[in-house]
Amino acid sequence: MKDARTIGVFDSGFGGLTVLRALVERMPQARFVFAGDTARLPYGSKSRRTVARYAAESAQFLVRAQGAESLVIACNTASALALDAIQDAVPVPVLGVIEPGAQAARAATATGDVLVMATDATVQSHAYRAACSGQGLRSLEKACPLLVPLVEEGWTEHAVTEEVVRIYLNELRGEAEAKGMLADTLVLGCTHYPLLRPVIERVIEQMPRDRSAIAMRVIDSAESTAEAAVRLFDADGRAQAGAAGAETEIRCFATDSVEKFERLGSRFLGRPVGKVELIDLGG
Ligand code: DGL
Repeated sequence: MKDARTIGVFDSGFGGLTVLRALVERMPQARFVFAGDTARLPYGSKSRRTVARYAAESAQFLVRAQGAESLVIACNTASALALDAIQDAVPVPVLGVIEPGAQAARAATATGDVLVMATDATVQSHAYRAACSGQGLRSLEKACPLLVPLVEEGWTEHAVTEEVVRIYLNELRGEAEAKGMLADTLVLGCTHYPLLRPVIERVIEQMPRDRSAIAMRVIDSAESTAEAAVRLFDADGRAQAGAAGAETEIRCFATDSVEKFERLGSRFLGRPVGKVELIDLGG
């Protein structure tokens, strides 16, 4: 596939494969290179400075060593804390997941009040609050630090996970109601949470409706990010012709735990990830 457009996709781990999946569906003729910084995951508990350094190194690998002509930062934490630093580190266009997520929230909400579940670092950055506010929305963000390890463990359909989700959502709904919000949309602001979507939707279904009795829509930014990537990186449609299929070229790189990436990654990508290559980006 010599003439294929090369798109780099980056995440702190393999959760970002949910974004890659949405990209492949829309641009099956592109060549994708994915880097998961599994050795240094989680980013969600780290400082801005550290996340920026790690993410810039991965971005440089994708551009310099793998020839990426554009980058999608699938990691919410890196998008929230380090989008500018990544853009400064590479000479190609860079797209994060926060703005597309806020746009999807605006399209979904009727009340204009939005809830966001994310990592600690993403919540502390208030990147979603800023992006939602830019869309004219009120938002309330909640850090849910236990969810990434549960997904990493493969406990996506587990009673413990369901209970943890219930506790977080009860707290979030309680805080929102105390602020007088009528939230009708929940943004999954972390790469790993789409894997918990069935559990999250089930818990929401079982919760008493708030005083306005409105239903809650769950959205993740993978789809809207992929749509934004098509508009920005494939305006001439070169990568879009044809259907998504096994022939789309995808190369995956990880900084650690290649076997785990190969084993669990298929759940995120929706098909086998193939042979994952080990890379060393430094400490
Ligand atoms: N990729 C991160 C995110 O979307 C979750 C995993 C981590 O904390 O590194 O925020």
